[in-house]
Amino acid sequence: DPPHIPVICVDGPTASGKGTLASEVARRLGYHYLDSGALYRIAGLAATRAGLELDVAHEHTIARMAETLPIVFTDGRVILAGEDVTDAIRTETAGMNASKVSALPAVRTALVALQQGFRKLPGLVADGRDMGTVIFPDAPLKVYLTASAAQRADRRHKQLISKGISATLADLRADLEARDARDSGRAVAPLKPAEDALLLDNSGQTVEESVAQVLGWWEEKQPFV
Ligand code: DC
Repeated sequence: DPPHIPVICVDGPTASGKGTLASEVARRLGYHYLDSGALYRIAGLAATRAGLELDVAHEHTIARMAETLPIVFTDGRVILAGEDVTDAIRTETAGMNASKVSALPAVRTALVALQQGFRKLPGLVADGRDMGTVIFPDAPLKVYLTASAAQRADRRHKQLISKGISATLADLRADLEARDARDSGRAVAPLKPAEDALLLDNSGQTVEESVAQVLGWWEEKQPFV
């Protein structure tokens, strides 16, 4: 990778607010934005639609699909083989399916080049689970975002309610903890802070406070080339 192209990594567990934080930091800096979780969600959806069980028996078939996904990102929409799947990849089931395919090492390998291809001038903000540990290990700023499971379940609950989707807090929290356990427990690229990551617990913070914190850290890193 060209190290002169700056990257800010934002990793953390499910519903920690990574997407909101990372996309806002990208907007403020005029950088590109990579939502790496969306790629696993799309791979999970494509495999499910092909009628495949999301397990090791189909690892290589799913990996081949992931490597050649016919996806287009345009105007904030995600188009898979001509179909708008923006909403379909955001359901709780799609998240759980993404977590399943993401535990298959060949699927992760299949998505490396696609993710690294987002590193373009003037810079990139990337969010996920292994941005700082595996995909962009030379990134000058790595943030590891956390919030308590109770807080995260509560936020997800409010989000769903505001979209008119009903869900119980207890179910959401159980789902979230199951997903955290799978993402942290897998053998390849498990969810964990990079050794040089800065920890940010946004439990008591507004979005603006977290954004200001990351932009402040980014300023302190300058100049890095
Ligand atoms: O961030 P998200 O909830 O959209 O991610 C969905 C799943 O994809 C998550 O449970 C684990 C997986 N994932 C991953 O393994 N590595 C990433 N860099 C991003 C997501």
